[in-house]
Amino acid sequence: MKMAVLGAGTIGSLIIRSSVSMGFQVIGTGRSERTLERVRSVGAEPTSDNLKAVKCAELVVISVKPQHFSDLIRQIPSELWKGKTVVSVMAGVRIETLAKVIKDANLFRAMPNVNARVNMSTTALTGGEEGRDVVDTLFKNLGTNYWVTEDLMDVWTALIGSGPAFVSEIVDGLVLGAVASGMPREIAYSAVLDMLRGTAENLRHHKGHPIEVRDNVTTPAGTTIRGLKVIEERGVKAALIETIESSTRRASELGKVIDEKIRKEITEDHGS
Ligand SMILES: NC(=O)c1ccc[n+]([C@@H]2O[C@H](COP(=O)([O-])OP(=O)(O)OC[C@H]3O[C@@H](n4cnc5c(N)ncnc54)[C@H](OP(=O)(O)O)[C@@H]3O)[C@@H](O)[C@H]2O)c1
Repeated sequence: MKMAVLGAGTIGSLIIRSSVSMGFQVIGTGRSERTLERVRSVGAEPTSDNLKAVKCAELVVISVKPQHFSDLIRQIPSELWKGKTVVSVMAGVRIETLAKVIKDANLFRAMPNVNARVNMSTTALTGGEEGRDVVDTLFKNLGTNYWVTEDLMDVWTALIGSGPAFVSEIVDGLVLGAVASGMPREIAYSAVLDMLRGTAENLRHHKGHPIEVRDNVTTPAGTTIRGLKVIEERGVKAALIETIESSTRRASELGKVIDEKIRKEITEDHGS
């Protein structure tokens, strides 16, 4: 499979590294020598020529920042996209908007997260039928895929995109609590990470509601109920619900601004 990754930055280079490991023939683009060197270091062919990269690829990933998209798209004649499978990882840019300038292609959006670094991304994918298998394979190599409808992308961005930040904050709080109770930080940190992984596996294995697992370890007048009482009193669960709602609203606001800006720019260019 011949593939081009336009914008080999943080996420683009992770996609390149993964695709090269699957035996894809990858060409990666960037403007600076630093980006091109990064492409080289993950085993792909570097170029600053986006047109050349698209010409020779059957599968194209667009991983520039949304504010650089209009500039990038100007470099590629619209007829060149015909029949190609194109995946955008740009946050907020809707398929309908992409379709205005990437004509007659099989269009997809992907929203991976930073855990792609350890091949454990939880990636949302959306798009049509044709080309779906190769897109699924591409992102499965970086973690787990969820095919969703496009309207779920904002909550996905909040829950799964920002999720690693929220969980890191919770981890920090747990570790500080252990340190306050006399445990050395290094032991606490490592043990908390193991406990999180174990809890996730246990919850998945259990299949029922998480509250059932919680109740299994909650002995009358024991240690767990003391801690749970504090969680209740401080409204931790309500805060988490509000965290995701608020972050989703922001993803939606930003998405609208980005999408409208790109629409305006490409409409000015293409007069449509
Ligand atoms: N980071 C994440 O965790 C994450 C997760 C999901 C989705 N995303 C999305 O992924 C996209 C990239 O994010 P990122 O964090 O990877 O950003 P990034 O590190 O800044 O990568 C973007 C890359 O695009 C290159 N670029 C810019 N204009 C270009 C052009 N005209 N032609 C070729 N290359 C160009 C830049 O390199 P030069 O400056 O050398 O050109 C840069 O290396 C964004 O749209 C973001 O919404 C990111």
